[in-house]
Amino acid sequence: MDHFELQDGVLHAEDVPLPIIADAVGTPVYVYSSATLVRHARVLRAALAGLDDPLIAYAVKANPNAAVLATLAAEGLGADVVSGGEYRRAVAAGVAPGRIVFSGVGKTAEEMRLALDGGLFQFNLESLSEAEMLSDVAVEMGRAAKVAFRINPDVAAGTHAKITTGTADNKFGIPLSEAPAAYARVAALPGLRIQGVAVHIGSQLTSLAPLEAAFRKVGTLIDALRREGHAISVADLGGGLGVPYDAGAASPPSPEDYGAMVRRVAAGWGVKLVFEPGRLIAGNAGVLLTRVIRVKPGVTHPFLVLDAGMNDLLRPTLYDAWHGIEAVAPRGGRTVANVVGPVCETGDTFATARDMDAVEAGDLVVFRTAGAYAAAMASTYNSRPLTPEVMVKGGEWAVVRPRVDVESLIAADRLPDWL
Ligand code: LLP
Repeated sequence: MDHFELQDGVLHAEDVPLPIIADAVGTPVYVYSSATLVRHARVLRAALAGLDDPLIAYAVKANPNAAVLATLAAEGLGADVVSGGEYRRAVAAGVAPGRIVFSGVGKTAEEMRLALDGGLFQFNLESLSEAEMLSDVAVEMGRAAKVAFRINPDVAAGTHAKITTGTADNKFGIPLSEAPAAYARVAALPGLRIQGVAVHIGSQLTSLAPLEAAFRKVGTLIDALRREGHAISVADLGGGLGVPYDAGAASPPSPEDYGAMVRRVAAGWGVKLVFEPGRLIAGNAGVLLTRVIRVKPGVTHPFLVLDAGMNDLLRPTLYDAWHGIEAVAPRGGRTVANVVGPVCETGDTFATARDMDAVEAGDLVVFRTAGAYAAAMASTYNSRPLTPEVMVKGGEWAVVRPRVDVESLIAADRLPDWL
């Protein structure tokens, strides 16, 4: 459930009519609902009840806006970060360092230093060479780094290939078969303190079965590691639970079903559980608000040319992702259209033969489920100003990231004096 609803024929974000934001800020613009973010955090927390104070570490990559992070930090969420930049954003927004998990295959010594200095819950290591680098950094700083290995359980997640992370040929984690030797090696490295096991098999999962299969492997590994004498007190089960993008498609499993599965599988593990949800928290908490520039005739269907392009919302072209497209003030009719942006690529297509509200040039339109992996992946391709972001809370709203205009883009370049 979200807080973007029609009131008197006009789509609102909570109590704010979207045309007010479009007129004041211009389009395209991302609009987030604070109430939806809070609701999703609470629904997940409730679904995980009975799991003995799990750490819910929001995956910052989904939406790193400071207003989003501060809203979630106030709800008690921690953060899953994958770069020094995300670590700094999380801390700046008020996330307690002790609730931060550092994931990612390419952590640099500098990033390790930053997090060790500021403090964190745990590093999720993805290779032995990373463990060796962290050991060196920790020793040099006179600190002990708390670590888990991310294991690659070789489970097909059943999602898009580009967001599958837990099959043997993916770059993530260490193979299960190598885990005992890796833990033994790390136990012997100075400056590292083993505390857990981590797994994350992919994103936008629409079935619990692969998650359950991966978690069972984690359970087996915890037993094996304990038999080897390792003190395992944490299991990080990653993120990945899908959200509904298409009302017409089968719904992904609910957070309640996910929680029930985890309670069943992890019963008796005797660990603190960590979760790293991104999309589940932020996905349906945002829309991309855009205006129709023109309706251009096409051979099969008309082209709706929007003022948002693939640079603003990359998911449809990158993952063939489906986003709901709706008129902000529906005129009542329907149309079948190819919905495109102004960028000079055929890939700048949001939807083909989409049955949707009839719209005309100048009308406002939203892309739904644009709170996660949307603004975060925007670029200035085609020298288009970087999309601004707005947060709504009840009847209040504010620009939480101004548009990065073309003047700033031009000013960021440097001409060498030998040119
Ligand atoms: N933990 C780790 C280690 C991850 O790599 C990710 C996502 C998450 C947690 C959060 O997963 P979530 O709960 O959001 O599914 N750009 C793609 C999604 C990439 C996800 C990358 N990792 C998209 O737009 O669909």
